[in-house]
Amino acid sequence: MADREGNIDPKDFGIGIPQKSEGFFLKGNSHVEWGMKSRLSRIFDPKSGHSVMLAFDHGFIMGPTSGLERMDLTITPLIPYSDCIMCTRGALRTIVPPTCNKPISYRFDAGTSILTELNDQCIQDIEEAIRLNVSMLAVMAAIGDPEHEGITIRNLTKTVDLGTKYGIPTLGVTAVGKNLVRDSRYLSLASRICAENGANVIKTYFCEEKFEQVTNAVPVPIVIAGGKKLPERDALAMAYRAIDQGAAGVDMGRNIFQAECPIGMILAVRAIVHENKSVDEAFEMYETYKNEHK
Ligand code: 5RP
Repeated sequence: MADREGNIDPKDFGIGIPQKSEGFFLKGNSHVEWGMKSRLSRIFDPKSGHSVMLAFDHGFIMGPTSGLERMDLTITPLIPYSDCIMCTRGALRTIVPPTCNKPISYRFDAGTSILTELNDQCIQDIEEAIRLNVSMLAVMAAIGDPEHEGITIRNLTKTVDLGTKYGIPTLGVTAVGKNLVRDSRYLSLASRICAENGANVIKTYFCEEKFEQVTNAVPVPIVIAGGKKLPERDALAMAYRAIDQGAAGVDMGRNIFQAECPIGMILAVRAIVHENKSVDEAFEMYETYKNEHK
């Protein structure tokens, strides 16, 4: 109950001290509203500015992918080591403990599978996303796919509109079409189109040459997908080079959960992404963890 009498008079007004006004640490997101910044600050570590997202949404187009056959056995133990999890609502409701308290990059689109024509997508219900307490809405953009480019860009812009209404950022995921190569020209074009359409963060692939042109051409943070499983040291080298050339993190799946020692791998990826460890140092961490936990 508010007291009307006997209160201590307020006097510490800090006269002459300008009110502190903090900038925002994440590229291109200084002007979004408070709820979005709060969610983005759960996904990206405000100290390093980076994030290790664990992706296990593959089943929505690929079915029981290797390493994801029993997500309760392979993914649930990895969740505590991630900064953010990227998954479908099916995975959330079945194997992700709500007590894990990790921000969720939610697979917000759905559609055709690897058995048909990929990328014929629709988006889901924003109320479902809010009910699930998600922190980011992930939507595919099939730039250069003549049949599905328009559909996926409409999905992206609709998602940005819904996300903006409720303070939830959008992750634009650049899917690579059949006839397109993963080079800096394509990746910067696709990523830039997602950003221009309002995506707050972009997920794309790393490319061997001129990746810094991709990160520089895009006005919001970029996180890289890992792609197909590589030898562990090569996957760490890819993460290192991506961060070194301006990526804000990784959104990695197969190169973590298909590794010989998945926990060792995510710890080694974290060392690169958050602590600037070299590839040799991170690989040594991986080997040590693996050998100690056989
Ligand atoms: C598919 C996705 C996947 O989550 C993504 O490709 C990440 O996984 P991986 O590191 O295995 O490539 O966004 O569109």
